[in-house]
Amino acid sequence: MIPQYLIDFDLQDLKVVETDVIVVGSGIAGLYTAIEGSADRKVLLITKKTILESNTRYAQGGIAAVTAENDSPVYHRQDTLLAGAGLCSSSAVDVLVHEGPAGVQELIRLGTTFDEENGALALTKEGAHSHRRILHANGDATGYEIVRALSKQVEIIPNVTVWDDHFVIDLITQDNECLGVLVQMPDGSLVFVRGQATVLCSGGAGQLYRYTTNPEVATADGVAMAYRAGAQIRDMEFIQFHPTALSYPGAPRFLISEAVRGEGAYLRNIKGERFMERYHELLELAPRDIVARAIVSEMEDTGSTFVYLDITHESPEMVKHRFPTIYETCMRYGLDLTTDWIPVSPAAHYMMGGVKTDLNGETSISRLFACGEVSSTGVHGANRLASNSLSEALVYGRRIVNQIRRLPKASVEPLSLSFSWQRKEAPCQAIVARRLKLQKVMVRYAGLRRSKDTLLRAMDDLNRQLPLFHSVLSKREEYEFANMLTSSMLVIQGALCREESRGAHYREDFPQQDNEGWRKHIVHVRGQGMMEEFSDDV
Ligand code: SIN
Repeated sequence: MIPQYLIDFDLQDLKVVETDVIVVGSGIAGLYTAIEGSADRKVLLITKKTILESNTRYAQGGIAAVTAENDSPVYHRQDTLLAGAGLCSSSAVDVLVHEGPAGVQELIRLGTTFDEENGALALTKEGAHSHRRILHANGDATGYEIVRALSKQVEIIPNVTVWDDHFVIDLITQDNECLGVLVQMPDGSLVFVRGQATVLCSGGAGQLYRYTTNPEVATADGVAMAYRAGAQIRDMEFIQFHPTALSYPGAPRFLISEAVRGEGAYLRNIKGERFMERYHELLELAPRDIVARAIVSEMEDTGSTFVYLDITHESPEMVKHRFPTIYETCMRYGLDLTTDWIPVSPAAHYMMGGVKTDLNGETSISRLFACGEVSSTGVHGANRLASNSLSEALVYGRRIVNQIRRLPKASVEPLSLSFSWQRKEAPCQAIVARRLKLQKVMVRYAGLRRSKDTLLRAMDDLNRQLPLFHSVLSKREEYEFANMLTSSMLVIQGALCREESRGAHYREDFPQQDNEGWRKHIVHVRGQGMMEEFSDDV
């Protein structure tokens, strides 16, 4: 059993910091929610690294929203539902497609500069989009531009305080109400931050896998702490693998945006053959899960660890202008995007599931909200449509702030709350090696393709790590590892339970989609196991 808290504490012994709104995380969800919330509330934004480091910063392709005359929210809705493979919440998708365009205008108002073409916003296409509707900035540096603009605002707004290099260990709850968070300060001391509302914006889980496009900070902390607190966690078996991460000796798994295929790039196996026509009529722009599995099949058939991405037939000027970051990064490894085929393979990219919320971003615990990748609003279903994540964070961030304004004032009486658990004094050891082992197990047994046998093998491996929860934890790497272990177990349990293939979840022993039996979600609650919930995709 995973305990409710990672450490023992007595609130009466801790320093207390009071604020109105606590925001955990500094990607687009955290920064935007903090800015919106600061209009009439004191906001404390807590981030474990800096406000410039998050998954958002590395987003290339862009942000999907309807801005073109020939496009419509109806098409955006259809594309999102189709990619989501029967598990999106249609009401959550409606919110996204109708409120997304205003979200983009907000970003522009807050200082984000998107690329333009002939005096209008420049739009590109990505997999499974029926229209060109992806806005981008500085070619392929969209996330960086958004973080630049929003962090500048956050730094000057007096109502927002930023704590960087602070680690949120746990949510403090009582009677299913979130009272605030337990934080480890940079000097190792602990404080209790008490707030009227807590918003988890802590991002995703790419680090559960050895190969990922996500930065080091994406260790699924938010999902794990919400699970410990008793929140409903949904759809964890759906992990999206991006088809094209750079796969070259000595280079990181750098993302090569889907927009490169959107602008005409081909995929070729190591024999030089284009292969996507054997897998899907949309060829290189088929939904991500299909492209990623097609690549793995080709790699297996040709005995290779990569396939090639080829955009050498497009004009070098266009390629350099549209993809300056990708061009420069590849050049660092001696690969010229304009003349060379680039070796790529799939890597873990996005967590579709997360902490279940309603349409106002509120979780099953009162005063606890979740926004962005950590949340499961229902927008993504079994497979996220490319570039929907940044728009989702904006739209739901705004709704969360409106909902916080409607909350009744929480009690400010002093709290007496303590927790202790059977922990041995022995500190846990060799965290770096244990983390690497977990990442390898997840890639091998719970990755792009799974089966009962591989999942049981993974579960067995992770079960052997469970004594960790009976060790005394005191360091950030230990808390992160505990969070990764918890979230990995949720992924595996969901994947074992779902005996079908759908979207990003592919079971080799159940290769078909089973709409009769499985048009439903799997919801995890600590102490209650797994429950099934019918999909409201109509
Ligand atoms: C990409 O640029 O391919 C990533 C966009 C996304 O994941 O939505």
